[in-house]
Amino acid sequence: MKIIQVPTQAIAGQRPGTSGLRKKVTVFQQPHYLENFVQALFEVLEDRRGQTLVLGGDGRFHNRVAVQVILRMAAAHGFARVLVGQGGLLSTPAASAVIRKRGAYGGVVLSASHNPGGPDGDFGIKYNVGNGGPAPEKVTEAVYARTQQLTSYTIATEVDDIDLGRLGEQRIGDLVVEVIDPVADHAELMQQLFDFDAMRAWFASGKRMCYDAMGAAGGPYAKAVLEGLLGAPAGTVINGEPLEDFGGHHPDPNPAHAQELIAIMSGPHAPDFGAASDGDADRNMILGRDFVVTPSDSLAVLAAHATRVPGYRKGLAGIARSMPTSQAADRVAQMLGIPCHETPTGWKFFGNLLDAGQATLCGEESYGTGSNHVREKDGLWAVLFWLNLLASTGQSVEQLVRAHWARFGRNYYSRHDWEGVATDRADALMSSLRSRLSGLAGQRFGSLQVEAADDFAYTDPVDGSVSKAQGLRILLAGGSRIVLRLSGTGTEGATLRVYLERYEADPARHDLEPQQALADLITLADQLAGIRSHTGMAAPAVIT
Ligand code: G6P
Ligand code: ZN
Repeated sequence: MKIIQVPTQAIAGQRPGTSGLRKKVTVFQQPHYLENFVQALFEVLEDRRGQTLVLGGDGRFHNRVAVQVILRMAAAHGFARVLVGQGGLLSTPAASAVIRKRGAYGGVVLSASHNPGGPDGDFGIKYNVGNGGPAPEKVTEAVYARTQQLTSYTIATEVDDIDLGRLGEQRIGDLVVEVIDPVADHAELMQQLFDFDAMRAWFASGKRMCYDAMGAAGGPYAKAVLEGLLGAPAGTVINGEPLEDFGGHHPDPNPAHAQELIAIMSGPHAPDFGAASDGDADRNMILGRDFVVTPSDSLAVLAAHATRVPGYRKGLAGIARSMPTSQAADRVAQMLGIPCHETPTGWKFFGNLLDAGQATLCGEESYGTGSNHVREKDGLWAVLFWLNLLASTGQSVEQLVRAHWARFGRNYYSRHDWEGVATDRADALMSSLRSRLSGLAGQRFGSLQVEAADDFAYTDPVDGSVSKAQGLRILLAGGSRIVLRLSGTGTEGATLRVYLERYEADPARHDLEPQQALADLITLADQLAGIRSHTGMAAPAVIT
């Protein structure tokens, strides 16, 4: 082995977004692109020498190539050990679990999450710190600053590729590369949290479920736990083989993209329970028979029933949700007498609350749910939580949700995504609305009364850091809301997200079609923000 210094030049645009650096595969394939970013990252991790790093990805195209590069750079940068998932695979929650269990210094996860994969798809890289959670902004900003000053990177050369298929230790010079079972640590953690006997009995009684892994990283985890440990019949997990192009799936578990599962769950032979996870298996979607659970409701239901589950029997310290997530969880928190924190979009904002013991369950409207067991959202965890509730209550998904609405009221909720908007048009829409926000309070539009309107800012209660401009909020009388923000995870143009919420206490009105229940808010959003005129588009691309 030889360590060499390769001359390079700063590459523009290597600023990590909501969840790491995410670009087209073709961008990552450019000479030095990945190496530059990893060099900047390792330089920022000043005390990395002698430390253990966790490494793996969601198995998408370019994953294996990138793993070998990062291993050779880790060898050149003084790490003592890298724990890499077999086949280069580690789901995001599993990476978090491994970092925590093994006391690793940090971890590199290769994923573009729910974005499509394959040679024409997306690739991504993100860094997680020692608590198992996404690197805070001060780290990612420092990495970005370094990328803009690079003149060279350091890498080991004249070494064989690590055999990613072979479990156990191999070496690159002084670096020990340990290929680990990507599933084991996570599966063990699940067994500490949930009632596996009850869930086994649920399957043994003939109940059935369908888990759609969408050709992505979730497959091996779901198979090992559901079909392995819990005795669910083979075939319970569909699209369970991780493929480099996800088998053509857009691996985003929502009703728009998980259509195969939606069809199964609404068909004549629908199983009792349906679920899906995304590219890196941190997102989840929950379904009953012909019944879709919104992520916001899912968080609220889990919180309301948490003490039925062994891992949460002692109760919750608090709940946290991202600002655009519906306020259904707030009502549960109020009933439980615990705080409900409202954070900006992005799982990283939950990290401090979890570390400080101020929140136990967290959730986002973007199909993310999780708890203090790791520092990422966790698709399989959410599915097992639901399964545990189905098993311990004997109720169906729909019964649990309807009972919840009857008790707490229903927060009708929908998100409209306007995708591929020219960046300047999207910016113009947002700045125009932002400049008019302060004048909206007190105004009445038909039956809708604006109580307040602002650009959401968050002060972290643990470290006092302030995050501004996190989304435009129009708060209406009675708890209805319109929220607009630009996505931080897209790779083509801008995606405008419009979040709509209306609270309905009356059980006689809990059966409306959400788009109808929200119709006046949808109209008002367009009226106030000029969405159609700014975007030049007639309708949103995705409605969740
Ligand atoms: C990723 C993050 C989430 C975030 C989501 C939506 O999945 O991990 O925490 O909620 O992206 O982000 P976006 O900026 O696209 O709305
Ligand atoms: Zn994801």
